Amino acid sequence: MATLRTDRWWLQPVVTASILTAFVVYSTWAAFQNANYYVGAAAHRDLISPFYSPCLAGDCVPGAGHGFAISAWTLSPALIILIFPLGFRLTCYYYRRSYYRAFWWSPPACSVADAHGSYSGESRFPLFFQNAHRYFWYFGLVLNVILTYDAIRAFHQPGIGWGVTVGTIVLTVNAALLWGYSLGCHAGRHICGGSVKSFHQSPLRYKIWKFLTPFNVKHMNFAWTSLIFVAFTDIYVRLVASGAITDYRLF
Ligand code: FES
Repeated sequence: MATLRTDRWWLQPVVTASILTAFVVYSTWAAFQNANYYVGAAAHRDLISPFYSPCLAGDCVPGAGHGFAISAWTLSPALIILIFPLGFRLTCYYYRRSYYRAFWWSPPACSVADAHGSYSGESRFPLFFQNAHRYFWYFGLVLNVILTYDAIRAFHQPGIGWGVTVGTIVLTVNAALLWGYSLGCHAGRHICGGSVKSFHQSPLRYKIWKFLTPFNVKHMNFAWTSLIFVAFTDIYVRLVASGAITDYRLF
């Protein structure tokens, strides 16, 4: 790669590619498992994996459903909904920068030559689909509401009552990180306040814009922590559901 840089500029793209590849491999594996995604009343818990929520398939395990089911769907319920969080992350402005650098070396780092001879931006197929990001943002907000509902619901343990377990904390932190990630979205910030010519004449939008800005500043941090934690949440629920570990009740 043509560059005068002598530092380890390649480290960041390598780490990015490694984490994203690991996440894609794990989430694909988890999505096709169609098992151990819910811990229900038999274990006095109400914990659902974020990869499987909302559980919309007709054969969701008892208790995992959200009151609406597509009875004709017989594959893993995760396959119905994962397209939305996946599309949301894939089209995210921050992730685009990261994976263009990590996988396509376009460019791999600042002051390092692009691995490609020409550049067409995102104006051609398939990259113009990246413009759909704002619509994925809407879906992302809906999923956040559902995952927040799941987290609140988990605090009520069937047969025991309200209480706090490690699982409730895991689901709550997961929902909070996903909110942090979504609220910092560049497209969302633009929708809320970017098209306003004068904030003076739109005080409400100015307040929303001001509220979103700190999340936007930390968007990269939320992007990584929420990505890793959503996988961790699935692993935790999976381990409890399979009986490998017990969801410890704190009080
Ligand atoms: S820019 Fe990253 S979620 Fe929208």
